[in-house]
Amino acid sequence: MESQKQSGPEPPIKVSTINCIDLSNPDIGESVALLKQACLDCGFFYVVNHGISQEFMDEVFAQSKKFFYLPLNEKLKVLRNEKHRGYTPMFDEVLDPDNQVHVGDYKEGYYIGVDVPENDPESEKPFNGPNVWPADGVLPGWRQTMEKFHHEALQFQGSIALALDLEVDFFDKPEVLGKPIATLRLLHYEDQFSDPAKGIYGAGAHSDFGFITLLATDDVMGLQICKDKDAKPQIWEYVTPIKGAFIVNLGDMLERWSNCMFKSTLHRVLGNGQDRYSIAFFVEPNHDCLVECLPTCKTEKSPPKFPQIRCSTYLSQRYKDTHANLSVYDKHQA
Ligand code: OGA
Ligand code: NI
Repeated sequence: MESQKQSGPEPPIKVSTINCIDLSNPDIGESVALLKQACLDCGFFYVVNHGISQEFMDEVFAQSKKFFYLPLNEKLKVLRNEKHRGYTPMFDEVLDPDNQVHVGDYKEGYYIGVDVPENDPESEKPFNGPNVWPADGVLPGWRQTMEKFHHEALQFQGSIALALDLEVDFFDKPEVLGKPIATLRLLHYEDQFSDPAKGIYGAGAHSDFGFITLLATDDVMGLQICKDKDAKPQIWEYVTPIKGAFIVNLGDMLERWSNCMFKSTLHRVLGNGQDRYSIAFFVEPNHDCLVECLPTCKTEKSPPKFPQIRCSTYLSQRYKDTHANLSVYDKHQA
């Protein structure tokens, strides 16, 4: 994650055109070509006809809103724990500390991961553990809806491997995306106006940490991408919500894995005075997966740019760098 202090007013913001991949298109070759181009160009694309019904997505959003409408004391009962499960209050995250000099992101969230019972030896690993849920009776059906969405989103597999000229099942191997760290995050952005000049953002500029992110949003504009983070001034473009589509973006781990061939693009969220809800699903490899330059991404002229790194080591550091230390919430604990 890199950021730069902006000087002066930002130029007017236009709408970005990004590729749209239709998963119902029988011409797989065409879809892979569009996908590959998107991955090389900016690492952002839409996916439509992904198999998750609109009706179900509407239910997930309705349930998500119900949670965020709860009084703060109720939400704090399911405060995020060290395994990254549960509620993250407003300002918990600071994605762009160089520019967010006073407060963090104007958003609250809720993390749901792969449920690993406490008595399972796998629960010793970072990011593994039981999920936390609002108490029975507080939000009927809530847990079932979220578990179903987590399950369905995990079935959704892009053709990322084909776009990288790898065998189609490359990422399905047990040591790669078998037993992935898959995290669902419900998000609510407060109805405030962002002001980049004052360092006030819905979500500060960042690139995602992991492999890929599937993002569902409501119809409120807010998400922006910056295709060239080194440009001065940086040029930001809106990514318009498309009903029923997922906005998919690649994360830093894939950029690293692909030796920077595939892009993990800087993005942020600006508030426009309306409440905004989105749902991100972060797909990361297995904990022990060693992320090292893919065989199809290195040549004599372009040797590996990064040393290998274990997935969970990399992710733990990124979470630590961007989230409040849990001790700041001690006063709220009973
Ligand atoms: C994220 C993110 C964008 C959005 O959660 O990493 O970039 O629109 N979210 O909520
Ligand atoms: Ni992001």
